[in-house]
Formats: sequence, C-alpha cells, structure tokens
Amino acid sequence: MFLSVTAVLMLFSCAHGENPAIQVILTNKGLQYGKHAGTDWIQKMLEHVTLPDISGKVNVGFWCSIHYTLTNTSIEKCDLPEPSADFYPDATGLKTSMSGLSVALSGQWMTHFGIIHDKGSFDMAILGVDVTSVVELGKDADGHLSVSSANCVAQVGDVDVRFHGGASWIFKRFVKHFKKRISKEIENRICPNVEELIASVEYHLQAMNVSFEVDPAMAMNLSLSTSPTIDVSSLNLGLKGEFFSEKTRADPPFEAQPFTMPEQQAFMLSVGLSEFTLNSASYVYYSYGVFQRFIDDSMIPPGFPLHLNTSLMGPYVPQLPKMFPGLLMDLHVYARDTPMFSFQPGAVKLGIQGAVKAFAIQPNGTQTPLFQLNIDLTLSSKVWIADGKVKGSVSTDNFTLTLAGSEVGSFGTDALENIARKVVEMGLEILNKRLGRGLVLPRLKRAQLVNSVLKVQEVSIGYYKK
Ligand SMILES: *[C@@H]1O[C@H](CO)[C@@H](O)[C@H](O)[C@H]1NC(C)=O
Ligand SMILES: *[C@@H]1O[C@H](CO)[C@@H](O)[C@H](O)[C@H]1NC(C)=O
Ligand SMILES: *[C@@H]1O[C@H](CO)[C@@H](O)[C@H](O)[C@H]1NC(C)=O
Ligand SMILES: *[C@@H]1O[C@H](CO)[C@@H](O)[C@H](O)[C@H]1NC(C)=O
Ligand SMILES: *[C@@H]1O[C@H](CO)[C@@H](O)[C@H](O)[C@H]1NC(C)=O
Ligand SMILES: *[C@@H]1O[C@H](CO)[C@@H](O)[C@H](O)[C@H]1NC(C)=O
Repeated sequence: MFLSVTAVLMLFSCAHGENPAIQVILTNKGLQYGKHAGTDWIQKMLEHVTLPDISGKVNVGFWCSIHYTLTNTSIEKCDLPEPSADFYPDATGLKTSMSGLSVALSGQWMTHFGIIHDKGSFDMAILGVDVTSVVELGKDADGHLSVSSANCVAQVGDVDVRFHGGASWIFKRFVKHFKKRISKEIENRICPNVEELIASVEYHLQAMNVSFEVDPAMAMNLSLSTSPTIDVSSLNLGLKGEFFSEKTRADPPFEAQPFTMPEQQAFMLSVGLSEFTLNSASYVYYSYGVFQRFIDDSMIPPGFPLHLNTSLMGPYVPQLPKMFPGLLMDLHVYARDTPMFSFQPGAVKLGIQGAVKAFAIQPNGTQTPLFQLNIDLTLSSKVWIADGKVKGSVSTDNFTLTLAGSEVGSFGTDALENIARKVVEMGLEILNKRLGRGLVLPRLKRAQLVNSVLKVQEVSIGYYKK
C-alpha cells in the first residue's frame, strides 16, 4: 500500500478557543485510493460469505400457497464494478454508489405444499444491482470520529433462478412469482446490511483510543477538536494534538493557535502540525524537570580550557581564586522556562531561556552559591525528508550570556560567554551528526509513505480570516 503524504508545519498568531494543533486533510486522490483498496477488500470478503436463508410463500390460487426456503446459499461469482466515491458536503460525509453489480449464487431449495415436500438445488443470477449509500461523519462527545448511515437506496435489476432436482418441473410455472419475491427480498436486505457494516465501523471507531502513551511519562491526545469539515474536494480533521503528562493531566499555560492548511490535491494525505504540539511536549518535559543537569569537574574532558576548581577560575572570575581557594565547583544548568518552538518560513526556531548556577563545594560538603548566569539561546533548524527519513540541521541564531546574580561581586562575562558558546557549538555538532543520519518516519501498519514532503510555512493572519 502506498500513500503520498505531505506534512506541513505551521505557525499562526491569533488566539481562539480550542484550536486543533494537528490537521489532517484527505484529498480526493486519497479518497479514490482508499475506495480502490476497499473494493478489493470487499471482493475478497464476498468469496467467503454465506448468505442467510430466504423463505416465504407464493400463492398459487384457491387459498393455497407453496412455502419455500432457499438455504446454504453461497456466492459463486461476483463482479464488483468499481464504485464511485465522492465527498458529499450536503451530509458532511461521503457518498458511494455502485451500479451494475451482478452476483451468481447457488444453494439448496426446499418447498412444501400441504403435505408434499420437495427439495433440490438452485442457481441464481442477480443482475444490475444498484446501491447508493451516504455516510455522515461527525464527532462524538469524547472526540472520536463517528460515522452513521444518512441514506441508503438499493435496487435489484433482475433475478434469474434455475431450480434443479426434485420435482422441480412442477414449480417451473411459479418461477416468475419466486423471481419477484426473491428480487424484493434481496433488495430489502441490501440496505440493512450496508447499515450494519457502517454500524460496525462506528463500533470500532468508538472503541479506538483517542489518546495513546508515548513514553511512561507522556501521552498524546489525538481527540477531534472540531467536527470534520468536508467540501467537494477534501475532508479535514482537526485533532487536539497535545502531549500531556499522564500524572498531572494539566494543560500547558499556552494555547494552540488557529492555522489554515493549503489544500494539496497532488497528495493523498496532508498532515499539518502546529508548534503547539511540539511545545506541549516541551512543557511536559519542563514540568518533569527534564531540562536540567548537575555538572561536576569529573564530567569535564581533561583538555578543556575550563575546570571546575576555584583556583583555576582566575581567567573567568578573577576574584574567585582569592575568595575561595582550592575548592571544587558544581554547576546546576537548567531551563528557566519551557523551551518554545516557533515555525517560521523554511525554519523551525527553538528559544531556550537557560541558567547556570555555580557553587563552590566546601570541605564539609556544603555548597556555597557563587554566581548565576542567564543564557538565552535561539536555535534555528531546517527540517526535510530524504530517503524516507526526517533529517535536519541546527545552528545558533542568537546567543546571549548575562550575569544574573553574584555572591562574589561583579565580573566581566566575555570570557565565560566564549566558553559557553564553544560548549553549545560542540553540542550542536554532535546533534547535527545524528540529524544528518536521519530519524525514521513512523510507519503505518500496512502503509508505506512515499513521496513525503515536509514544509515549514508561516501563514499570515489575513490569509486565515480570508
Ligand atoms: C452446502 O453447499 C455446499 C456446496 O455448495 C455442499 O458441499 C454442502 O453439502 C451443502 N450443505 C448442506 C447442509 O446442504
Ligand atoms: C486503550 O487505552 C487503554 C487504557 O489506557 C489500554 O489499556 C488499551 O490497551 C488501549 N487500547 C488500544 C487498542 O491501544
Ligand atoms: C483530550 O482532549 C479532550 C478535549 O480537550 C478532553 O475532553 C479529553 O479529556 C482529553 N483526553 C485525555 C485522555 O486527556
Ligand atoms: C584545584 O586546583 C589547584 C591548582 O591547580 C590544585 O592545587 C588543587 O589540588 C585543585 N583542587 C582539587 C580539589 O582538585
Ligand atoms: C561548612 O563549612 C563552611 C565554610 O567553612 C561553613 O560556613 C558552614 O557553616 C559549614 N557547614 C556545616 C554544616 O558544618
Ligand atoms: C538576540 O537576543 C538579544 C537579547 O535577547 C536581542 O536584543 C537581539 O535583538 C537578538 N538578536 C537577534 C538577531 O535576534
């Protein structure tokens, strides 16, 4: 199964109630592909179907009637014409119709007419079956996609029955009664079966989880934020797209912004991701205290120009060797706030407000605070898809280091800024090597993503409001 997929990362700036942070657009190309796959599936299914018994009676005059039962009916051959499938805005749904379906059946017949019982086999051809079904899509209270049958019309063109065995010649003259009867009987059964099929799809949709665990600490809420919208060329689903902590279930202190996705008819499926989704993950990690590290001297590589020993800090903080000679130091590096992503044309930016607190370790183990540095960093990354992998590269956009507090008096920060910059560059070098190899895209169960495109776009407010 091949799907062409595009993923679009978007930015928008205009606050509103609960906006979907992920949008999925199924285009007509995708619908036609799905229909084709569905038709093949139904064709295969039909080979294994046993049909329910049909029984009834045919009046033969003089208040007499023949009771008949058609049993053990199986499908011998079925020519499933390619149905048509269209988006159907009138019912916020889909309309499928099939015309000219023919089915060849065989089975056993039984009749009784008073005390006369008889049986044999039959062959039947059902010709020119037309079925039109309209399915309405919606959203239930829990944010599941829901489907229901809005309309179904079925018509059987003609039925041809041949009875074999028994004293079937007796019934030959009643065949035209049987035909009408059976034709009506089959016609009446088609729509209830279609509705049953739709109900079973609905049952599976309701049973689906709209949130799933990403790792033991975090889950993703993919419930529908808005009802599906449908126009003649596409279906649009707006998903909440929020990562949340399974422990606290707290919403982040920021909201998803509305965004409009351009329709891309060349693709079957487009997935638009807003920065809210990434930022909600960032918020969960931030509130778990993931963005912090304690660094001691043993973690610093031997050749590095800075060591966490007060006596060696002279070049950076001149007064330190005199005030606290010969003590080892600890650094507490942490994010002062949730690191936030923003999508800009062609680039993803990440703003990090970090801080470094430095301590001297006294011989009795007490940590004496020395100073605090704030490091504000903006990273800019380019993201693309190649060889089925998401690849990227990250560079520093802006880097500032300021002295936010000091217990040892003020000092110039240029030397420390140079060192910190070097550390960031080294970190990015490692990250870029990893990103250059690429991250494997998630694979759908039986689907393979082909022709995937990843775009980062900024859409203006004007465009959103039309
Ligand atoms: C049902 O039909 C199959 C073949 O079509 C036959 O093998 C089988 O014996 C039939 N079963 C009954 C109960 O008549
Ligand atoms: C749905 O979620 C429940 C509870 O989180 C879990 O036990 C169940 O396995 C999930 N079902 C599926 C199909 O993922
Ligand atoms: C997912 O979001 C919806 C809408 O905000 C909410 O009603 C639902 O409780 C959330 N689900 C979970 C598992 O948090
Ligand atoms: C700190 O550096 C000084 C000067 O090199 C050295 O004498 C001292 O042993 C170092 N302190 C520790 C705890 O390593
Ligand atoms: C540890 O040593 C420092 C400096 O000598 C001193 O100020 C502090 O009170 C000591 N703390 C304890 C718990 O002994
Ligand atoms: C870098 O950050 C500083 C302080 O946050 C800001 O004043 C400056 O405009 C930024 N420079 C760029 C190029 O974004």
